[in-house]
Amino acid sequence: MSESREFEFTDASFERIRKFVTENTGIVLTEAKKDMVYGRLSKRIRKGGFGGFDAFCDALDSGDEEEQDFMINAITTNLTAFFRENHHFEYLANTLIPELVAKKGSYKRIRIWSAGCSTGEEPYSIAMTLKESLPDFDDWDVKILATDLDANVVAHGKAGIYREDRITGLPDDRIQRWFKRGRGDHADMVKVSTELQQMITFKRLNLLHQWPMKGPFDFMFCRNVVIYFDKDTQRVLFKRYADLLAPEAHLFIGHSETLYKVSDDFSSLGKTIYKKNS
Ligand SMILES: C[S@@+](CC[C@H](N)C(=O)[O-])C[C@H]1O[C@@H](n2cnc3c(N)ncnc32)[C@H](O)[C@@H]1O
Repeated sequence: MSESREFEFTDASFERIRKFVTENTGIVLTEAKKDMVYGRLSKRIRKGGFGGFDAFCDALDSGDEEEQDFMINAITTNLTAFFRENHHFEYLANTLIPELVAKKGSYKRIRIWSAGCSTGEEPYSIAMTLKESLPDFDDWDVKILATDLDANVVAHGKAGIYREDRITGLPDDRIQRWFKRGRGDHADMVKVSTELQQMITFKRLNLLHQWPMKGPFDFMFCRNVVIYFDKDTQRVLFKRYADLLAPEAHLFIGHSETLYKVSDDFSSLGKTIYKKNS
């Protein structure tokens, strides 16, 4: 494989990239990812006239923000979908929203964080569920913070425009109520309703950095984000989440993630749903 490569990709360069990625995103790149990294960076190295991986690594290490952003965006995996892991949204509609209504009484305020929101399908799914299931929605002050490290996906989420095939499989009534079809050249695109957009603030945020918000959040989604982080990074992160969540707030994580040996601040409710211990 390496003989046919346009640029030499030494173990030393891979190590420099690995170090940069782990320090800046928390993501740990295994040896098995070397070909993927080569594939994602070689075009950039050619176009940017770097001449090779060493010069590209020098740019990263010297603090070249454009290259650093490119590197981060190239390595993050943004796979997501509307109502992905639908049991979380069913739990939200059938259990958590009724619990919050009972708990909040006349203090009708709910704050939510979607951390690692990718292109926005997750926070929009939360917004739809709340609009559909929270009784007397207009009497409530509901806000969703949606954050991601990758600037491109944050911009996409904010715009709320998707290819039509992204909503294939959603029930018709949901499609009718929450999406507007494009016209003419945009006939294969849909846009989420402004009603949903008004509920969500999209922001770029690196989970490994300082956070400007104070909380407390009533529930949060951090799904399929920490899967590539090492356990120590996960421990620190979930401690910080616990500090920002209200007592008994809920935390939803991804299908292949667990808090076992990561955090004692939460109790499992099953199906990757956790409740903060009070
Ligand atoms: C696979 S997507 C998950 C999207 C959504 N939560 C879901 O489950 O459908 C993972 C997201 O985590 C983001 N991410 C990775 N490392 C991050 C970090 N250190 N800070 C913030 N976001 C990060 C990536 O940019 C990516 O959009």
